[in-house]
Amino acid sequence: MRVAVIGAGVIGLSTALCIHEHFHSLLPSLRLEVHADRCTPHTTSDGAAGLWQPYLSDHGNLQETLWNKETFDHLLGLLGSPAAEEMGLFLISGYNLFRQPVPDPSWKNIVLGFRNLTPKELELFPGYRLTERGVKFFHQKVESFQEMFAQGVDVVINCTGVRAGELQPDQELQPGRGQVIKVLAPWLKHFIITHDLESGVYNSPYIIPGSEFTVLGGIYQHGNWNEANSAQDHRTIWESCCRLLPALQEAKIVGEWSGLRPARPRVRLERETIGHGQFQAQVIHNYGHGGFGITIHWGCAMAAARLFGSILQEKKLAGLPQPRL
Ligand code: FAD
Ligand code: BEZ
Repeated sequence: MRVAVIGAGVIGLSTALCIHEHFHSLLPSLRLEVHADRCTPHTTSDGAAGLWQPYLSDHGNLQETLWNKETFDHLLGLLGSPAAEEMGLFLISGYNLFRQPVPDPSWKNIVLGFRNLTPKELELFPGYRLTERGVKFFHQKVESFQEMFAQGVDVVINCTGVRAGELQPDQELQPGRGQVIKVLAPWLKHFIITHDLESGVYNSPYIIPGSEFTVLGGIYQHGNWNEANSAQDHRTIWESCCRLLPALQEAKIVGEWSGLRPARPRVRLERETIGHGQFQAQVIHNYGHGGFGITIHWGCAMAAARLFGSILQEKKLAGLPQPRL
């Protein structure tokens, strides 16, 4: 059984890892491959601020809230492990700032210590390894699903992010362009995300400390495919973040990055049967994770692995017990 994951961002790699973890001993014939034309550090996932935080409202999408929670619990389980340092994984507290009262977010009971800011706090603001497992990597652009099937792939897993429309048109998928400035500010131990409800998600200043540098945003431009840095967006980010936290004026700028969030009203995570000559071939789609791919990746990887298990069962391939997923 040959399985090709297309995409080597956080979604493709975690999906490949989850399928390998759960199926390699049940299915000795499993040959897992990852095909991607952009690999680390050149994916959208590499540029992400890297914070686990869903959008404030799940708009009733309880499935995505569950995948976010599964990802949070997965990461929490890894916190004390030797992998944590390499992953840049650590607990951080911080503030989400609003100009007017808003309902509590859908994820308030998922994180460790959600609470509202005290009046005193409000005063502060006046204004991972797959190759070792035998997974093969192909640094290449995939032109079509048919190309994969013609090469003998049995199941394609589509983790192509914002460019999924190149393989199959999807009117609902749009780029949500973002730009960030990376600074050295090791004194910062707390994130600050402001919310301007009129200009939309992540389109107002945020400051997010990482393990090596601090990420300043935020820009969100729906429909903009431009991956080049913009001088005007640089100014907007710098001025608004320095207004929020004047101490940043002293911080050394060490990088700048622009990337495209795969924006979609909801994540596309489903099976599709596609004709290939006189045969039927299977594709599992896992894309459209907007500005929350890091936040939701493991829950989605497990759901994709379950869909893969259902294909095996139909093909009566894995002389199953099914893995617990
Ligand atoms: P990508 O990382 O873009 O990977 C797509 C992969 O598919 C690449 O390997 C590419 O080469 C491959 N591919 C596509 N088409 C083809 C093809 N035809 N042939 C071969 N390969 C192909 N999310 C959070 O949860 N927390 C954050 O703090 C956060 N901060 C962000 C900050 C910014 C500025 C931006 C822009 C996004 C941020 N995000 C954040 C969102 C997150 O980055 C995305 O949701 C996530 O990276 C999407 O992952 P992905 O694997 O689907 O896409
Ligand atoms: C973003 O810019 O998409 C983003 C920023 C902080 C947390 C999550 C996402």
